[in-house]
Amino acid sequence: MVNTFAQDVLNGLTAKNKHLSSKYFYDDNGSRIFQEIMNMPEYYLTNAEFEILSMQSKQIIDALGFSTPFNIIELGAGDGLKTFKLLEYLVNANIQFNYVPIDISQEAIDILTERLKERLPGLNIKPKVGDYFEILKVNKESAYPSLLLFLGGNIGNYQEEKASELLSLFNENMKTGDKLLVGFDIKKNPIIIHNAYFDKHGVTKRFNLNLLVRINRELDADFKIDDFDFYCHYDPISGDVKSYIVSLRKQTVVLGALNKTIHFNYNELIWTELSKKYTIYEISNLAEATNFKLTSNFLDCKHYFTDSLWVK
Ligand code: AVJ
Repeated sequence: MVNTFAQDVLNGLTAKNKHLSSKYFYDDNGSRIFQEIMNMPEYYLTNAEFEILSMQSKQIIDALGFSTPFNIIELGAGDGLKTFKLLEYLVNANIQFNYVPIDISQEAIDILTERLKERLPGLNIKPKVGDYFEILKVNKESAYPSLLLFLGGNIGNYQEEKASELLSLFNENMKTGDKLLVGFDIKKNPIIIHNAYFDKHGVTKRFNLNLLVRINRELDADFKIDDFDFYCHYDPISGDVKSYIVSLRKQTVVLGALNKTIHFNYNELIWTELSKKYTIYEISNLAEATNFKLTSNFLDCKHYFTDSLWVK
């Protein structure tokens, strides 16, 4: 089997403009550091979405207009409890539904399932591990209507065209009348966004540099972590937060497992992540471009974040 991590690292580090994908941030260490990010006061996204799902669960469920039972399919559920407040509302209101969390990490799904069984014993949970689309294909055959969840602002990691492709793929795997609730981080005062990503505690820096630690471990490389730094930049016009690793010296790194030496110039960059911010207008254009109809936006009180409800 081709090792796609090795392949992607090699492609990224031999490109003219070096890059690595943020999807590789989330090894066990990276997932732990991401939890730390979510606990920082500067990282407003988590609190904003938590507020939306705590305060507006009833409005969201009412807006579905679904007959019961129905399915809630969460794409990239992780081991967190993003969706807890929504599930809690449904269980307490005695509404019949199946909760199907999907994640590529078996460990994350096991932790989530255990926590939910303990905290919401009445919940009908059918966890799945694997590829979104294999599982979504099954959704097309379901006799019940489905709500798909793609929360947390994960869509922001995709460049515009890739985001359209992904959302169109969701659409193709949905039944007419199925709904999608997708979380978008909204354009706001640039200083607030800057502080969420260029945090003064250096947690986001550690999150990025952990990718080099991972490459050292998994690909037998010899990155000297102290010889690299972190930089990120928010462009309030495009809405792009772009994150980089910066080489603090002219240096070479050996990727043992790939039999390859990589050269870095002084101050050379590795682009690691895009975290794109949207206006409400851009969100409705994206819904339209991917064959959805926007039903409503559920915003937090500061209007920092929206869970946007779309119907096929
Ligand atoms: C998990 C993709 C929503 O882009 O805001 C947090 C990841 N990166 N701080 C984001 C992240 C830097 C996060 N998402």
